[in-house]
Amino acid sequence: MESVRSIKEMQVFSESLRNNGKKISFVPTMGYFHEGHLSLMKEGKKRGDCLVVSIYVNPMQFGPAEDFTRYPRDFERDRKLAEDVKADVIFCPENEEMYPEYYQTFVDVEEVTKNLCGFSRPAHFRGVTTVCAKLFHIVKPHVAIFGKKDFQQLVTIKRMVQDLNIVLEVVGMPTVRETDGLAMSSRNVYLKAQERESALSLSRSLVIARKLYEDGLRDSGKILREVRKYIEGNPYTGIDYAKICDTTTLKDVEYLEGEAVLALAVKVGATRLIDNYVFGETLDI
Ligand code: PAJ
Repeated sequence: MESVRSIKEMQVFSESLRNNGKKISFVPTMGYFHEGHLSLMKEGKKRGDCLVVSIYVNPMQFGPAEDFTRYPRDFERDRKLAEDVKADVIFCPENEEMYPEYYQTFVDVEEVTKNLCGFSRPAHFRGVTTVCAKLFHIVKPHVAIFGKKDFQQLVTIKRMVQDLNIVLEVVGMPTVRETDGLAMSSRNVYLKAQERESALSLSRSLVIARKLYEDGLRDSGKILREVRKYIEGNPYTGIDYAKICDTTTLKDVEYLEGEAVLALAVKVGATRLIDNYVFGETLDI
């Protein structure tokens, strides 16, 4: 497995692969790998001849009061884990090369980024789409794999790729969970021991919503009332949002007819966690 730091080197490498008819699969990450990241890489291995994994903690997608500086990092551990799943290249660019002096170009996907995380993290998706657009131009993948755990991110990236005519297949993969149901996240390490049980209120409330849906309830307000009541019954929790949205527009829906997602963002202590459930899909909890 190769580690590449230079943007130019990555571009030359990708271009030569393309010229040799090889299919490039790509998993963009911010590192500190868990099984969720590894599941994307395993899918990437199946879908291409060369799997590129990027590790880049993108400063542009963090708000001024957010956790950019303390975001967990462990390059050596990540390198070994990526090697175990037979990634071919790790691309880890430097801030100075990604955003040099005079940098001033951004990609903004307008509508689908307004609701949900867009409220409490106003510049977040602009940072995500900008860095992903850059990474797509550097890595030149044929297929890019994202997790459905960050549902709004996946919808936003798909929108950008379609709107900007980027020739790329974007694949969404199911959320990987701990055995007790907690969605895996690099940020789970922030949870204090006494908060860990309350963190389960997200996935458990999704199970409650699924049950109500399977029993025939279609009124979003009623489902959300039960979800909120359950989460608020757990100590250390503070709901940022609990919403049911159309899976394409991400606008709130009052009644469940088309495809809809229940999306949650909850602070557990100081740690903000997200999770979601697309009604009618399987939920392995
Ligand atoms: P990061 O949080 O490192 O996540 C990298 C990829 O792993 C994303 O596609 C995310 O949805 C996926 N992922 C995270 N937890 C998962 C889980 N439990 N199951 C399945 N997939 C999971 O998301 C980012 O980085 C950044 O915003 C990035 C796209 C790299 C842009 O900087």
